[in-house]
Amino acid sequence: MGLIGAAFVSLAALTSAASIPTSHVKRQTTELRDKYDIVIVGAGTSGLTVANRLTEAFPSKNVLVIEYGDVHATTPGTFDPPTDWITSNPDAPPTWAFTSLPNPDMADTQAFVQAGQVVGGSSAVNGMFFDRGSRFDYDSWTEAAGPEFSQCANKWNWQGIFPFFQKSVTFTEPSAEIAQRYNYTWDVAAYGGSTPIHSSFASFQWADQPLLRKVWQEMGINTPEECAGGDKEGICWVPTSQHPVTARRSHAGLGHYEDVLPRANYDLLVKHQVVRVVYPDGPDAGPPLVEARSLADGQLFNVTVDGEVIVSAGALHTPTVLQRSGIGAASFLGSVGIPLTLDLPGVGANLQDHSGPPVSWNYTQPYEFFPLPSEMAGNATFKADAIAGFDETPARGPYTLAGGNSAIFVSLPHMTADHAAITDQIRAMLLALANLLDNPEAPSLETPWATTEAPGTAWSFLLHPLSRGTVRLDPADPLEKPILDYRAGSNPVDAAVQLAQVRYLRRLLETPTMVAHGVSEIAPGAGIADDDAALEQYVRSKSTLSFMHPCCTAAMMPKSRGGVVGPDLKVHGAKGLRVVDMSVMPLVPAAHLSATAYAVGEKAADIIIKGWKKQGW
Ligand SMILES: Cc1cc2nc3c(=O)[nH]c(=O)nc-3n(C[C@H](O)[C@H](O)[C@H](O)COP(=O)(O)OP(=O)(O)OC[C@H]3O[C@@H](n4cnc5c(N)ncnc54)[C@H](O)[C@@H]3O)c2cc1C
Ligand SMILES: *[C@@H]1O[C@H](CO)[C@@H](O)[C@H](O)[C@H]1NC(C)=O
Ligand SMILES: *[C@@H]1O[C@H](CO)[C@@H](O)[C@H](O)[C@H]1NC(C)=O
Ligand SMILES: *[C@@H]1O[C@H](CO)[C@@H](O)[C@H](O)[C@H]1NC(C)=O
Ligand SMILES: *[C@@H]1O[C@H](CO)[C@@H](O)[C@H](O)[C@H]1NC(C)=O
Repeated sequence: MGLIGAAFVSLAALTSAASIPTSHVKRQTTELRDKYDIVIVGAGTSGLTVANRLTEAFPSKNVLVIEYGDVHATTPGTFDPPTDWITSNPDAPPTWAFTSLPNPDMADTQAFVQAGQVVGGSSAVNGMFFDRGSRFDYDSWTEAAGPEFSQCANKWNWQGIFPFFQKSVTFTEPSAEIAQRYNYTWDVAAYGGSTPIHSSFASFQWADQPLLRKVWQEMGINTPEECAGGDKEGICWVPTSQHPVTARRSHAGLGHYEDVLPRANYDLLVKHQVVRVVYPDGPDAGPPLVEARSLADGQLFNVTVDGEVIVSAGALHTPTVLQRSGIGAASFLGSVGIPLTLDLPGVGANLQDHSGPPVSWNYTQPYEFFPLPSEMAGNATFKADAIAGFDETPARGPYTLAGGNSAIFVSLPHMTADHAAITDQIRAMLLALANLLDNPEAPSLETPWATTEAPGTAWSFLLHPLSRGTVRLDPADPLEKPILDYRAGSNPVDAAVQLAQVRYLRRLLETPTMVAHGVSEIAPGAGIADDDAALEQYVRSKSTLSFMHPCCTAAMMPKSRGGVVGPDLKVHGAKGLRVVDMSVMPLVPAAHLSATAYAVGEKAADIIIKGWKKQGW
């Protein structure tokens, strides 16, 4: 799979002692208060952002966060000593692993996807690639949802969310020396927050890193100075979610919990699973009770809530909490014997993720870059120095670079002159997506990289998939992992766009620099001609079906369009119940999701705080 693949689809194993003080954490229901003003389900990326803001805004209101996982040992980065490109058991804390049903349109392959099961959620285990979508991604959210959403007060378009992207992170500029060494570019106007969620540029690059940057330029790709300020089409430098000095992972469990303690009104209960919310007198008479169970002894208990319940269990678990509560498609709930609370067919529908096949190559000409990642395995002196450098202040060397901080984001019109033929197929049905795919400033392809060490790989991430899947609780064990049906490739337009992307990436191998390096194609490979049928067969059989960005399963759209929550993130028809996590996006943006998860948390907190202030809090 190569370095970059490993960085995005593996996680960090956990090594040393806990860094979050366990003294504040609650483990028994006997430590809880009689009732809470707010209960948040899931101590993840968006959930802890909201918890931090609410406990800050309302010192006299008590907030309880209930988390399935534990506060964990330090959550190292994707690439931290002593282990390289760590792979531990992916289906044990701090993560869950899911395997989807086979995808009939993708040669029956299955999506393998992980999610964080730890305080900090997926931000504590992810690849630390910290980018935002383009302005067009967020504008498409309100477009997709229709006039009711684009004309309301809480707009979730670029203009409405950008201030919360700024607020959500502290970006630290690299030193002049490092900036010059790697030609880093950025624009501080995209940032400006003081929240202890950190992002920064690594102080290290593999020696061949600029090679691909040069080759992309030979392909005529744009070179924006900053990709997080709304304009993203081009070759991007992407900050890493890590501390600028120590180069250690920055995540929600630190920045939105540990760093703001002690706070008398901020309770966190770990190792407990929220089973469901309960409306004893129907969904109009909220807020609901929260029924949870101890993972230690299975004991069930109810938490009484005065204000509201916020479900932030992530795009794969939020639908199961709602479905167990009787909130979902009536037909499905009936078929699994769950009494209906509210018929909301959009719950667990609209599942999206990024996916794609690789284009890879080998060099036939020897090349003389030093260092390349192979030094870590073959050169003990180099590795010892890398380990020592990581503990220096400031940290230096290879371990300060996670999976890489470079990617191209290219629009369909800049990839193929045939873009209109592709988008005509969907224009009538999905105007917002069609506009995205027709917009030369809105990327539809991402290819991240850290090094091109042979064999080199350029992944073809499909940024705007049309196919939609489902998340349904498992009737055989509703408390266990849900059944994921990705239905990847079920919309033929996805294959059409992938064909354009793979053809485009193949052109990389024809650039003067690559030719000078004597590249030879490994995948799709010489045996696969530039022929629609052959390439489509390649795309359908060799795609990685999840780049760990599942989302959109409780979408912010009107109920009539399959939505689950309104622009205030309240579940349609349910009093005192919101969803705040990556489930609420109508469309997946052209970005890895954690930066958006924080921004959604920030904007949600702002809306929730204003709402309760109006009620006299
Ligand atoms: C391996 C991996 C690599 C990734 N790489 C990147 C990357 O490099 N860059 C990037 O930007 N994004 C990346 N992502 C995606 C990104 O991190 C997530 O999309 C984002 O953090 C999700 O935020 P969230 O708030 O929706 O959910 P999460 O942060 O996942 O939080 C959900 C929380 O709810 C808890 N929970 C679930 N069910 C229950 C329940 N019933 N009761 C109580 N608690 C519950 C979970 O334990 C978890 O803590 C990656 C994700 C993974 C898993
Ligand atoms: C930085 O940019 C200059 C000028 O474009 C170029 O000559 C140099 O090779 C670049 N350095 C790196 C490391 O990319
Ligand atoms: C929680 O409350 C509901 C509604 O009153 C009740 O049906 C359920 O049994 C309660 N659960 C527990 C564990 O007490
Ligand atoms: C790449 O080329 C090298 C030497 O030229 C060779 O040893 C290696 O097997 C090739 N790798 C692949 C995957 O073809
Ligand atoms: C090993 O790495 C060191 C730098 O840490 C370098 O000086 C040395 O040349 C490398 N050895 C080999 C055999 O490449």
